[in-house]
Amino acid sequence: MKPISHVVQSVPASGIRRFFDIVSQMQDVVSLGVGEPDFVTPWRIREACIYSLEKGFTNYTSNYGLLELRTLISRYLDERWGLDYNPENQVLITVGVSEGMDLALRAILNPGDEVLVPEPCYVSYKPCVLFAGGVPVPLPTTAEDRFTVTAAQVDAAVTSRTKAVIVSYPSNPTGATILRDELQAIVDVARKHDLYIISDEIYDRLTYECCHTCTPTLSGAYDRTVLLNGFSKAYAMTGWRIAYAASTPDIIECMMKIHQYTMLCAPIMSQMAAIEAIKNGESDSDKMVEEYVRRRRLIVSGLNSIGLDCIMPGGAFYAFPSIRRTGLTSEEFSERLLFEEKVAVVPGNAFGECGEGYLRCSYATGVDNIQIAIERIGRFVEKIGSRSDLAPAKRK
Ligand SMILES: Cc1ncc(COP(=O)(O)O)c(C=O)c1O
Repeated sequence: MKPISHVVQSVPASGIRRFFDIVSQMQDVVSLGVGEPDFVTPWRIREACIYSLEKGFTNYTSNYGLLELRTLISRYLDERWGLDYNPENQVLITVGVSEGMDLALRAILNPGDEVLVPEPCYVSYKPCVLFAGGVPVPLPTTAEDRFTVTAAQVDAAVTSRTKAVIVSYPSNPTGATILRDELQAIVDVARKHDLYIISDEIYDRLTYECCHTCTPTLSGAYDRTVLLNGFSKAYAMTGWRIAYAASTPDIIECMMKIHQYTMLCAPIMSQMAAIEAIKNGESDSDKMVEEYVRRRRLIVSGLNSIGLDCIMPGGAFYAFPSIRRTGLTSEEFSERLLFEEKVAVVPGNAFGECGEGYLRCSYATGVDNIQIAIERIGRFVEKIGSRSDLAPAKRK
């Protein structure tokens, strides 16, 4: 047989998947591993979908998505951020932010174009850049910098082949947020070098300390930014696979063409549910956020109390403690923790090389689970001891 795609073959399958295949075979595991809300989609949203099915809405929609949903999204972006996107040609309904990211990259990149990818980052970014024929250029961040990429780093990494930079705050896996001035400085660098910005803001409603900054609201950002957002995290709708992209008519037209030929449209029942979410789901979303606030304090103080240095994440639902003082790699730590104490976490290196020495602990799980997990992790850390030659990560 002729060899199959060497590009695809060169990309390893997600480290998270491998780990969860093992977890699914085990019993009594307390999981801090999942990257999705533990809440069920609010009833009013499920009911709206059921009702739409009863009424017989089972057809394809426009490739762009239902105009009613696009109009509501456009209104929402205007009311929340003062952004002006024409629902006719500047908003595209996608099958998750996952598809939106893929479409944005494929719409923007020519073969060999470089994309700057701050790390640690969501697992799909680098593979999607590669699948789109581009070259991912990782920009490592550290706990000392609150896992936030700097404009100077972006500036220094630009070459004649650089086409775009991905920004994603609040971040998966670190929970990092970025200050408005810091993001503006990155936009200024993007302007200086004429780069596109792909801004994945899927956790924008899950911010706990400072306000979220929506990238296209920044000076000089609107015309060069693809804004990606969706319903998975804020409304506990991961399984519905529904999201949107907003950008200039030219970019959205290109993204729509790929979507048209590969996906056709997002499922109509999910679009119907999203209409209800955006119209009436805000209070449900706010209740979930209140719960995450409580859990965030509990998990971060718990991890620090057992000797795993952890900065307070500003958003999303992840804590990212350092395990450097144990001397174990993040995979060794995670595997042993799973088999010896039945706690599932995700090794930090699944999110890029600079994630080595960290764990991603999701607090999208109940308070009781968090307490049991901290107890078990504490026991494990005590058992393995710490290497005195390795200083614990500095806390900010
Ligand atoms: C940063 C980030 N972007 C995108 C996604 C995927 O989102 P969706 O469910 O909308 O495809 C995730 C899922 O965990 C994520 O953490």
